Amino acid sequence: MKKRILMATMIFSLIITMAGCGKTQAPIVNKESVQNGKSIDVETSATVDGTTSASVVPEDLVEEYKPKGFTDGDAKKALFVVGDPRKYSVNYDLVNTAMKHFEEKGVEVELRDLYDMKFNPVLSLENFYYAKDGFGEPTPEIKKEQEYVTQADYIIFCYPNWHDTPTSIVKGYMETVFAKQFAYQDTDKGLEGMLKGKSIYTIMNAGFLGGGRGYIGDGVGINDEAWDEYMNAFRVMDDDTAGFWGVENKGRFVNDRTPKNNSENYKEELTKLREDLIKKLDKDFFN
Ligand SMILES: Cc1cc2nc3c(=O)[nH]c(=O)nc-3n(C[C@H](O)[C@H](O)[C@H](O)COP(=O)(O)O)c2cc1C
Repeated sequence: MKKRILMATMIFSLIITMAGCGKTQAPIVNKESVQNGKSIDVETSATVDGTTSASVVPEDLVEEYKPKGFTDGDAKKALFVVGDPRKYSVNYDLVNTAMKHFEEKGVEVELRDLYDMKFNPVLSLENFYYAKDGFGEPTPEIKKEQEYVTQADYIIFCYPNWHDTPTSIVKGYMETVFAKQFAYQDTDKGLEGMLKGKSIYTIMNAGFLGGGRGYIGDGVGINDEAWDEYMNAFRVMDDDTAGFWGVENKGRFVNDRTPKNNSENYKEELTKLREDLIKKLDKDFFN
């Protein structure tokens, strides 16, 4: 009997080892190896761009920004709902640039970094009927977010484009926080949005949308037709969400021209990207 157990254990271990052998080793991504775009590890390199195909802002160019948060004052308020696991991505650079610009323009900024908060995005059975029908009470976690939403004039969703939708942590924020009886309600005429006077906006970094930067009509001749098609598709979705909640859709800033990690002109390209975002925000919010 003992012999059989020993044999079975050995066969099991062999199968596990063999299964592991065929797998490609995930690249070890640390900031140093990624930033030094020229010393590419051929074994682990995902692309010619560096050890990862994700964008990585060099450490000396990262400008972290901690917004001051909401006060009880009368200034306009922008709630940044951010779903990006990496603080040194180009996507997060756009977030930092935008938060700083809003505060420079006198708008109060509150950051809800959903990864830092370990926000639970899953709409579970426990919360389903609250979200769907407004039955019962929100959890303390959801209630706190609703209080931020209530205070906000602008709700700014920020995420990298992962399969053409918000990252799941942001999507889960929408599903759980913007519940019925909080964001919309039944009336004799049908559903009515309850968040009137507010607006939504999206900041999104992307990789495969036709190579433009901005919004509809802002392709740069790489594949303008694809760019506009994507932007129009996003607009349809955003308009629908905005209509549901009773808010205005102020549009998007989408970037599909991320500097290559090993670009010789990285700093200039990043500076230009930041300037383009600021110009767009000025047009969309401060004109
Ligand atoms: C899971 C996953 C799915 C992605 N799907 C898309 C996609 O559908 N369309 C697209 O344009 N880019 C897609 N990308 C690429 C990212 O949007 C792109 O790498 C990212 O915007 C780079 O920005 P970041 O490094 O600042 O996050 C995807 C990336 C990941 C990780």
